[in-house]
Amino acid sequence: MNFKNILVTKETGYAVIQFNRPDVLNAINIKLMQELVEALEALDKDNDVRCVIITGNEKAFAAGADIKEMAGASAMEMLIRDQFARWDKIRKFKKPLIAAVSGFALGGGCELMMTCDIVIASETANIGQPEVNIGVMPGAGGTQRLTRAVGKVKTMELVLTGKIIGAQEALRWGLINKVVPVEYYLEEAKDIAKEIASKPPLAVRLAKEAVLKSFDTTIESGLEFERKNFYLLFASEDQKEGMSAFTEKRKPAWKGR
Ligand code: CAA
Repeated sequence: MNFKNILVTKETGYAVIQFNRPDVLNAINIKLMQELVEALEALDKDNDVRCVIITGNEKAFAAGADIKEMAGASAMEMLIRDQFARWDKIRKFKKPLIAAVSGFALGGGCELMMTCDIVIASETANIGQPEVNIGVMPGAGGTQRLTRAVGKVKTMELVLTGKIIGAQEALRWGLINKVVPVEYYLEEAKDIAKEIASKPPLAVRLAKEAVLKSFDTTIESGLEFERKNFYLLFASEDQKEGMSAFTEKRKPAWKGR
């Protein structure tokens, strides 16, 4: 894959997408988002890839949407461009997404982090929704995802004051999974990616789908959705293999079907 604003590397079982705009702290411009979505669409179809890590560099995961790119736009231009609509495609990515976050994860960076399924952060991570400082508000999911993740009052604190929190506070709030020293955040994310890659892909995919369903449904239909995905897995060879391997006390050999 030949991209300019991101770098994509394939490892055994997973891929790493790294933002590649270090001079502007990985500010997310339209082109970067186009490339990210294009890469994810290709990786979703690639059977060798079971999980994807999204990362930046030590200094910045991403410092938000590119302010300079949108500064002069009119409301109608923003509406016609509808650049944040493309972000919905990330939410629809079928395989697990792990955010490996160090440094700034602000505005759109924080929103992108929250779209991922698991978040590993370095001790130096700085996380927030500071859009209010530049005369706007979160526009790529911040008000909705943050509220679901940490509740109303903490969301209000971040969104209304533009306060930036450190990794330990984000961990206490339940916004991220784990904090590690800066030298290890990517390695830690890779360990989790390898672990997920060793699991049966259909079970992983349907489980992710069911967890995400809980965000936009009632408990009643969410439970029904979960149950149907569970039953559906009994049509897979991996279910037969997994349960046979358990009774025969051996390691399962997954086929991904
Ligand atoms: N867009 C465009 N450029 C950005 C940027 C952004 N979001 N964040 C940083 N940059 C650029 C700076 O302009 C600077 O470029 P120059 O060297 O050409 O001037 C370079 O990155 C380095 O930044 P700083 O010199 O400001 O670095 P710092 O260490 O002093 O400060 C910072 C770091 C606190 C993150 C500061 O850069 C900052 O406040 N950035 C903006 C954060 C922000 O407001 N994000 C929200 C954007 S709007 C949004 O995301 C909407 C949405 O909901 C999707």
